[in-house]
Amino acid sequence: MNDDLQKRIQDALANPQNMGELANADAIGTVGNSECGEMLRMWVKFKQQDGRKVIDRATFQSFGCETAIAVASLATELIRGKTAEEALALKPEELAGELGPLPPMKIHCSQLVEGALRAALSPQADTCTKPTESTTTSGNSTAPTLLDSFSKPKSGGVRIQFLE
Ligand code: FES
Repeated sequence: MNDDLQKRIQDALANPQNMGELANADAIGTVGNSECGEMLRMWVKFKQQDGRKVIDRATFQSFGCETAIAVASLATELIRGKTAEEALALKPEELAGELGPLPPMKIHCSQLVEGALRAALSPQADTCTKPTESTTTSGNSTAPTLLDSFSKPKSGGVRIQFLE
């Protein structure tokens, strides 16, 4: 990875946007990359604006990789105000925004973000679950965290989709 990209990633990580669970999210998508073990979950909340249903806010949680966190931070800002269709039309390299082109070994990091977005927004996605329908492990009314997903088996509600 070149120094410029490393610096842009560090800049994004210095002030990551939209990290954490989003209460009352309308959609949730969780994906995992079986090769590097990285996992990412995205929460999306919509609002009505000028007669269109647009993304009001999106947040994420991720294990590990700095590049995926940096991309998720930028992507969750980028998709604000877009419809689900507009957000789904974005390519992984577009989601990476100002990070610019990623080296081949890091492209899958932005694909992980795209996968989580797709899992949350695709109409047919069965990974899409309202928090109130999710199985919680901590007894509160919000969606489980990624760590919760790993630490206790689910009886249903959240499925982790592994990217190819
Ligand atoms: Fe696998 Fe970044 S190294 S998602």
